[in-house]
Amino acid sequence: MPLDGWDHVELWVGNAKQAAYYYEHAYGFRRTAYAGPETGVRDRASYVVEQSEIRLVLTCALHPGHEIADHAYAHGDGVKDIALRVPDARRAYEEAVQRGARGVREPQTLEDDFGAVELATIATYGDVVHTFVGRNGYEGAYLPGYAAQECADGSEDGPGLLAIDHIVGNVELGRMNEWVEFYERVFGMTEMIHFSDDDISTEYSALMSKVMTDGQGKIKFPINEPAEGKRKSQIDEYLEFNHGPGAQHIALQSSNIVRAVEALQRRGVVFLSTPDTYYEETPERVGEIDESWDDLRRLRILADRDDDGYLLQIFTKTAQDRPTLFFEVIERHGARGFGDGNFKALFEAIEREQALRGNL
Ligand code: FE2
Repeated sequence: MPLDGWDHVELWVGNAKQAAYYYEHAYGFRRTAYAGPETGVRDRASYVVEQSEIRLVLTCALHPGHEIADHAYAHGDGVKDIALRVPDARRAYEEAVQRGARGVREPQTLEDDFGAVELATIATYGDVVHTFVGRNGYEGAYLPGYAAQECADGSEDGPGLLAIDHIVGNVELGRMNEWVEFYERVFGMTEMIHFSDDDISTEYSALMSKVMTDGQGKIKFPINEPAEGKRKSQIDEYLEFNHGPGAQHIALQSSNIVRAVEALQRRGVVFLSTPDTYYEETPERVGEIDESWDDLRRLRILADRDDDGYLLQIFTKTAQDRPTLFFEVIERHGARGFGDGNFKALFEAIEREQALRGNL
């Protein structure tokens, strides 16, 4: 199953116009395409926003009883489609279905003056889907049927986010291995790393995680399930408020995380905090890095090291009122891991938020 990379992530939301404004103004995305009543689409509005290689699509329904409205009602604003670029969408779909994936949308070709794009969709955990996108050199904005949007490029004072690093799925207790096996069987992915509840536990809660990746390491899908703890796991809280499994966080790569976090904070993005004690022990654990520890401490950026190098990362508070989807900014200096040295500090920070919501 050859994958060329991430194509886009589509969020189904209650109000796409306002969601687009949030991702543009808070996260520094640039609007590139639109489809809705003005372009002849009667039942929905979709805003496409981009930043370097990252493309988000924000879509809402225009009427009740619509699949998109029902999804937003059940899950709140969240990820519907993790779309993957492939050389041949029809073949990817046929192969996936033959390997046991549930087909959601048969291969179809969309065409306009700028060329043709082939799309086909399969189901994954919860109500999330994967669309295979075969762009075949398509030269229009996003997809046929979308109107290109001319927008000022706000990149000078933007966070400079570059690409999607990984997208994490939360699934129910006891079902992680089923979805690990799904990505092995359908996509031919392999398990890159796994974390047991001993690795990822705090005084109160625990989770287990396995990271699936394609042959080239472009696509990384960690899958989490809750584990037994003294209190409710953050994964349980997610499952309760999302009403089922779904995408928990999207990690975005940066090449200057200090500048990125400063820009995001200036624009109103709020990050999880980390106690001062974290910065008393971390420099010794992580060793020499290019950045200044003073900057990392000031911005509450986390650091970790593995056999291949180090990484810097930070997590936002949730992007909507439900404690569901959030974002990560990650900068890799060789390290291929996920910051497991930070899990305890991170989860304690998440639990402080959980406690504030009365959910711990
Ligand atoms: Fe992550």
